[in-house]
Amino acid sequence: MGQVCLVTHFYKRPIHASILKNSIDMKDEKQSHLVLYRKHRPKDWEEVIGQDHVIGVLRAAMKQGRVAHAYLFSGPRGVGKTTTARLLAKAMNCLNRPAAPCNDCASCVSYSDGSALNLIEIDAASNRGVDDIRELREGVRLAPAIGAHKIYIIDEVHQLSKDAFNALLKTLEEPPAHAIFVLATTELDKVPQTIISRTQAFDFRRPAVADMKKRLVKIAKAEGHELDDVAAHQVALLGEGSMRDAESVLGRVLAVSDGRIALANIEETLGIPKSEIVHTLMEAVAAKDVGRAMGAVENAMDIGYDLGYLSRVLLRRFRAILFLKTDPQLERFIAGEMLPQDIALAKSLMGSFSHTDLEQNIKVLFEAERDAKRSPIPQLPLEMALVEMATREA
Ligand SMILES: Nc1ncnc2c1ncn2[C@@H]1O[C@H](COP(=O)(O)OP(=O)(O)OP(=O)(O)O)[C@@H](O)[C@H]1O
Ligand SMILES: [Mg+2]
Ligand SMILES: [Zn+2]
Repeated sequence: MGQVCLVTHFYKRPIHASILKNSIDMKDEKQSHLVLYRKHRPKDWEEVIGQDHVIGVLRAAMKQGRVAHAYLFSGPRGVGKTTTARLLAKAMNCLNRPAAPCNDCASCVSYSDGSALNLIEIDAASNRGVDDIRELREGVRLAPAIGAHKIYIIDEVHQLSKDAFNALLKTLEEPPAHAIFVLATTELDKVPQTIISRTQAFDFRRPAVADMKKRLVKIAKAEGHELDDVAAHQVALLGEGSMRDAESVLGRVLAVSDGRIALANIEETLGIPKSEIVHTLMEAVAAKDVGRAMGAVENAMDIGYDLGYLSRVLLRRFRAILFLKTDPQLERFIAGEMLPQDIALAKSLMGSFSHTDLEQNIKVLFEAERDAKRSPIPQLPLEMALVEMATREA
């Protein structure tokens, strides 16, 4: 298991982030599509995926009229903390229904169009001082303009200064009956225990890939596209656990596609190495076919792929094979980051490699990736790695 953990550790930040960022910066975007995730922010509880453990409790509390005065929502980026806080605010002030927004009354409509007066959102990253919190405390005392509750969402609350936390603490100790605080953070360990203990805390989780897929297909459909299953799977994986990021990726793809969207469209739009090229490279290494491997590299060069990135993709594939060969149970660690067809390929190649082989291949690709940027001949590091892997004596 030693090697397995080592590899996981090095690859904590998964491979996709960098290439996505690059391509987002580089290509012309239709702005409207980049904000797909705003347009499709869930309007009702049912639309929020993967957070049933939070929403169930919130809805029960609302039905019983036992909503807490302060909540703390923690968890990774883009998994629904702000969304849930806003839904709570909307539901609490709905004029028609007790525990869910009707999306029809004057109050609900004001939430949907962003004009709600009794929802106050503060970004603690840019309002981190004690004066900001003092100002907030003044406002908290005033009764809501309309509706029964005033909801304060303090985003990135861990960014508050020490004095600001103390000021906030006082407010949390004696909140007026109409006030509800939702503190949100991606870094729970930076929130003082004194604050945590005065809130009802919820951990938000990364939604399951299957749930992300379903929602992506639905959003694509609403935008007039048909996203096929593997394509949806790939977009979900590219979100790396963040629904917001997955929706941004989808927006990029929708902007340049019409009608049906397949995996190839995703690969092309985002500049991800085509499945065929990666498959060919993996099979060529397994079959010790240097010529075929070189042909695939040439192909990748012609398309203009970043070969450092391609090395990272291969690295991931060998990591998967190593996991699967070590213990089939480890499949769950790679299922969240690889397409089912790629896992199937990894399984079919398992028998071609010894453990030592796999460890060596990972090391060699590691170097190829590291050297990719500074090599005077761009393809050289990957070629050397492939030669080494495909000619090594058993
Ligand atoms: N659990 C979810 N279910 C459905 N859609 C989601 C979910 N989480 C995020 N989204 C989508 O991503 C967008 C951003 O989500 P949200 O602002 O709630 O994330 P967050 O957890 O507050 O992230 P951050 O920590 O970056 O503030 C939403 O508008 C929605 O489109
Ligand atoms: Mg947020
Ligand atoms: Zn309503």
